[in-house]
Amino acid sequence: MTFPTVRLRRLRTMPNLRAMVRETMLSPANFVYPLFVVHGRDVFQEIPSMPGVYHQSIDRLGREIDEVSELGIPAVILFGIPAYKDPIGEENYASDGIVHQAIRTIKDANPKLLVMTDVCLCEYTDHGHCGIVREGEILNDETLDILGKIATSHAEAGADVVAPSGMMDGMVRAIRAALDREGHQGVSILSYAVKYASGFYGPFRDAAQSAPAFGDRRTHQMDPANTREALREAQLDVDEGADMLMVKPALAYLDVIRRVRERFDLPLAAYNVSGEYSMIKAAVARGWLDERKVALETLTAIRRAGADVILTYHAKDAARWLRDDG
Ligand code: PBG
Repeated sequence: MTFPTVRLRRLRTMPNLRAMVRETMLSPANFVYPLFVVHGRDVFQEIPSMPGVYHQSIDRLGREIDEVSELGIPAVILFGIPAYKDPIGEENYASDGIVHQAIRTIKDANPKLLVMTDVCLCEYTDHGHCGIVREGEILNDETLDILGKIATSHAEAGADVVAPSGMMDGMVRAIRAALDREGHQGVSILSYAVKYASGFYGPFRDAAQSAPAFGDRRTHQMDPANTREALREAQLDVDEGADMLMVKPALAYLDVIRRVRERFDLPLAAYNVSGEYSMIKAAVARGWLDERKVALETLTAIRRAGADVILTYHAKDAARWLRDDG
């Protein structure tokens, strides 16, 4: 059957009909909102390269948490900026570390809001690398014990989900073992399983003050050219006990999201990273793009590629736009 009997435009004329046959749904229920927490009082400072995203102190979190919950966003992911940095990043697993304080504050204010934490060394180390460094080399196995300690300390403070992002081999197994040993069998692991050595993390490294002091992350993060290797990364993390997988970044890797979705049955998250957000913001500031349209289009594309969950700095705006669409 073909034109003129078939007219695909028929299903596009009425808004209700368009909505009825829509294949991909975007909802605030899919979003995770990232928060950058800092020491101090009454700090609410915009990150220059990420307009609309703030460094905030613990005493400012209450309002943010209310807003996120009212918008129907079920989860936040926390990134902490420590008071000081050292070679191994001790504040990362200190019971009164910045992230630990934030977890307790959020859970006190709203126990239902899911709290996820990024488990990595780079925001806490003076060299800005994701692992312990000796003679310029990032040591994989020596880093695993610390990752277990960090994850356990987050669980102790009340985190629901820990998300290791350092791309160390064996990190999921080490973290699962540490959590279980300390009685945190109920805490889930969302593994940044497929994380590329990407230029799109630029603004985040300003936000987290975590740019590496020397070298780069290509010795442990993935080569943007590879997808078969992405499936091996994901397989390893499945075998090590990950509860959910993540692909990161999202926009330049929609094909990877699709392939991981097709191969694995675990829930899949995608990180709509800082550079993807800031790119839109910059073009919008110049009047070149319509933020609402392109942000919703981007998020829909990430869902269409196969992500169940999206970590995005646009979460609050998108939730508002979706609500106003009725
Ligand atoms: C590592 C981490 C990074 C991001 C999330 N977790 C930075 C990196 O790998 O260099 C980037 C997120 C973003 O760009 O929005 N702790």
